[in-house]
Amino acid sequence: MKLLVTGGAGYVGSVCAAHLVETGHEVVVLDDLSTGHRDAVPPGARFVEGELGAAAGDVLAEGFDGVLHFAARSLVGESVQRPELYWHGNVVASFRLLEAIRAHSTPRLVFSSTAATYGEPEQVPIPETAPTRPTNPYGASKLAIDHMISSYTAAHALAATSLRYFNVAGAHEAFGERHAVETHLIPLVLQVALGTRESISVFGDDWPTPDGTCVRDYIHVDDLADAHLLALQYAVAGEHSIYNLGSGQGFSVREVIEACRAVTGHPIPAVTAPRRAGDPAVLVAAGDRAAERLGWKPSRTDLERIVGDAWAFAHKRA
Ligand code: UFG
Repeated sequence: MKLLVTGGAGYVGSVCAAHLVETGHEVVVLDDLSTGHRDAVPPGARFVEGELGAAAGDVLAEGFDGVLHFAARSLVGESVQRPELYWHGNVVASFRLLEAIRAHSTPRLVFSSTAATYGEPEQVPIPETAPTRPTNPYGASKLAIDHMISSYTAAHALAATSLRYFNVAGAHEAFGERHAVETHLIPLVLQVALGTRESISVFGDDWPTPDGTCVRDYIHVDDLADAHLLALQYAVAGEHSIYNLGSGQGFSVREVIEACRAVTGHPIPAVTAPRRAGDPAVLVAAGDRAAERLGWKPSRTDLERIVGDAWAFAHKRA
């Protein structure tokens, strides 16, 4: 298929673009490089530098079989401080992309949604049928786009899939996580092992969890990429499918730090800090729908494997 990958110079987008190229698809990456990196665009993909809302129409006019839409702002804290960036950069830009998809009759869309659309869960593991009550503008902006996509799918016979990522981690052999502002647990812990950070702060050790630290569902970015390929394959015109993507297994902040110590051989000092505002205690995906309907089953679920791949990438770049 000829596929447009928006945000294909970012972490998840570049890894998915690499998988698409590796499986023989023709890939065009559209990215404004506001947070992505030119050298993360995989060899074999054509690169167009441009702002999504402005450029999508011209690019899609060439004729495409589908769009994988990764381009987004994705910092929860920033979204609380500067919501306008999220309504504009995520919702308005995605609306323009949908309009370009409609104008050029592009048949398929795979969208990067998030577990943040659910907010504080009532039930864990979280199924796709759980109530969507996001607790920050980032999650609200992604949920608004999910609603937009549902309405376009029904009215304009688009085949659409929203993939709700839990905690994406790990790295592809060539592409991994490189954020200018790093807020994610695993890359921060690995910075301690690399010697660029003194210690890791544990945000709260009095949560209602077995060891008192927050529990998350870490999903390897290569497993996530596999799900995108399956989503393209199983998409049906006029239907908007929503899938949670996680391993269904939760690891605490302390378990993650322990895995990083085992992988790096570094003692990694950890300091207990106050809870971070807006963090739910436990976020774990119920992955039955993706398994049943897409035949997707993550295979890189071992925590030391996930951390090891992130470490190999971080080490290579240091
Ligand atoms: N944490 C620490 N210390 C740190 C950084 C994180 O203790 O220095 C803790 C957090 O409190 C949380 C866990 O590590 O309990 C994971 O935190 P991340 O920031 O790595 O990830 P989040 O669970 O906050 O966020 C992820 C995605 C978001 C998405 C959210 C909900 O990065 O985009 O899941 O799905 F919105």
